[in-house]
Amino acid sequence: MKYQNFGGNSTSAIIMGCMRLNQIEKNGAFSLIDSAIDSGINHFDHADIYGDGECESIFGEYLKNNPSSRDKLFIQSKCGIRQGYYDFSKEHILNSVDQSLKRLNIDSLDCLLLHRPDALFEPEEIADAFELLQISGKVKAFGVSNMNSMQLELLRKYVKAPIIANQLQFGPMFTGMIDFALNENMTKPESADRDGMILDYCRLNGITIQAWSPFQYGFFEGAFVDNEKFPQLNRCLQRIADSYGVTKNAIVSAWVLRHPANMQLIAGTTNRLRLNEICQGADITLSRQQWYEIYKATGKTLP
Ligand SMILES: NC(=O)c1ccc[n+]([C@@H]2O[C@H](COP(=O)([O-])OP(=O)(O)OC[C@H]3O[C@@H](n4cnc5c(N)ncnc54)[C@H](OP(=O)(O)O)[C@@H]3O)[C@@H](O)[C@H]2O)c1
Repeated sequence: MKYQNFGGNSTSAIIMGCMRLNQIEKNGAFSLIDSAIDSGINHFDHADIYGDGECESIFGEYLKNNPSSRDKLFIQSKCGIRQGYYDFSKEHILNSVDQSLKRLNIDSLDCLLLHRPDALFEPEEIADAFELLQISGKVKAFGVSNMNSMQLELLRKYVKAPIIANQLQFGPMFTGMIDFALNENMTKPESADRDGMILDYCRLNGITIQAWSPFQYGFFEGAFVDNEKFPQLNRCLQRIADSYGVTKNAIVSAWVLRHPANMQLIAGTTNRLRLNEICQGADITLSRQQWYEIYKATGKTLP
């Protein structure tokens, strides 16, 4: 497993995403967490809304049964999405953290992320909430999710603590944040920058991008590995996987981690074997040529 500096902590390049933890039976979820730790994962991603709190509760039960593991794990959660609307109000942020801590059975979150931009967000109010959370020891570090560069600029003008993470969807089949840069100064649809140069912004400001849904195509439309809709991509992944003696899942994670932005990959699988394969990708450094081969096998072209 590759580890990297995340806000002064050494955390795994592969994060276990806990969004689907309630989709398997409880003992299976506990075994999945054990397997993740055995594979070298020490970083876990939650959100107050995953399974309506159930995913955090399952993890909290795991920690209750394994109290000595708490200090070895980096636990982050997110808030700000409510039923039918977004809410970055101070009251909601503070309340959500209290609920998450209770469900997770812990005293403090290692990192809190704002989940998806609230059009009505007031940075002063967020700064206030973050300061209270930090002073009380309930949250150690802060990040965001799905934010563009100017939203981050606005937030960082007021929040004193560093913003250390931005979660964004990224994977071979979801590459908007790099497509436009490859097609710079052209009139093709891919030339449009829809995220305010977010990748460069994060690199310039030391914000770690955490790639969510890296195995999905579209917005949760399904996994592309072993999917007959993507024969060219699967052939290419298989050929490269064979050359390293690993599976296609490992090559997908190697592809995300090959980007010099030092992203982390959030794996959402509920399958222990698949999770282990994905972790193997963290030890592989793809060549530039292989990286581009995979990019092009998704059907994209270079100018
Ligand atoms: N910040 C945000 O807005 C945001 C949004 C979404 C997710 N997230 C975070 O990102 C994490 C990952 O998201 P995700 O679960 O959508 O990511 P993912 O790892 O791309 O997808 C996992 C899903 O795809 C299936 N899958 C993966 N590889 C497969 C393969 N080779 N063959 C068949 N099925 C495969 C898994 O099934 P199995 O379980 O059967 O393997 C599971 O249903 C979440 O847990 C959450 O922590 C954040």
